Amino acid sequence: MNKALRRPVIAGNWKMNQTPAEAKALIEEMKPLVKDADCEVVLCVPFVDLQAAMDAAAGSNIRIGAENCHWAQKGAFTGEVSAEMLKAMGVPYVIIGHSERRQYFGETDQTVQMRVRAALDAGLTVILCVGEYLQQREQGITEEVVRLQTKIALGGVSAEELKRIIIAYEPVWAIGTGKTATAAQANEVNHAIRVCVGELYGKDAADRLVVQYGGSMNAGNAKELLAQPDVDGGLIGGASLKAADFSVIVGAAS
Ligand code: 13P
Repeated sequence: MNKALRRPVIAGNWKMNQTPAEAKALIEEMKPLVKDADCEVVLCVPFVDLQAAMDAAAGSNIRIGAENCHWAQKGAFTGEVSAEMLKAMGVPYVIIGHSERRQYFGETDQTVQMRVRAALDAGLTVILCVGEYLQQREQGITEEVVRLQTKIALGGVSAEELKRIIIAYEPVWAIGTGKTATAAQANEVNHAIRVCVGELYGKDAADRLVVQYGGSMNAGNAKELLAQPDVDGGLIGGASLKAADFSVIVGAAS
């Protein structure tokens, strides 16, 4: 499958880190380091940091995203933020279905599907996360797990809308643990995701789909991971909080 059809996307996921002032300072530090990137550069930040991050990134090649959004446009959902609200702020990207949402906040494949729907309806680009638990890998059902997560999340998504979907393969056992999937393991599952999307939308759509790898990607291992034929970028947690490390990863994708 033709990697040249896809522009890599390096996205940071700050998770629950950085105050607005810290967000501004970190983005100011990153801007000169990533300005020549030959890939998309995205930083997904806590809701309270969105405005400061967008102000700091204005006029640069850094795009800002949120880390989640709700499925309803508005209503009695205390503590939630809608895709419509993100759109109104001018936020272009949103992560949906991160394993930490699934693990700690009761996110299911069904709620992921509903949130994807809402994000697409609002015109956002979605970074959809899928990935298996260690036990599932050891049972040999990784591919079945990510295929099912992918199929359910994409239920009702049109071929046109698929152009605003990025899939991030994040093996749960590799997140924040320092245990990275080997480049071969990452490529194998990314490839399986592309095959699955090809079955649903055809080869051309699959060839154009950006599939990231996430899970302890860092300045030291990014080059090898990103060199894989089916790895089109990264979703980076810890290393996206360090300007120098993040810019090395951006450089590796460029
Ligand atoms: P780490 O890079 O800290 O392992 O986090 C990965 C991740 O969950 C990105 O969404």
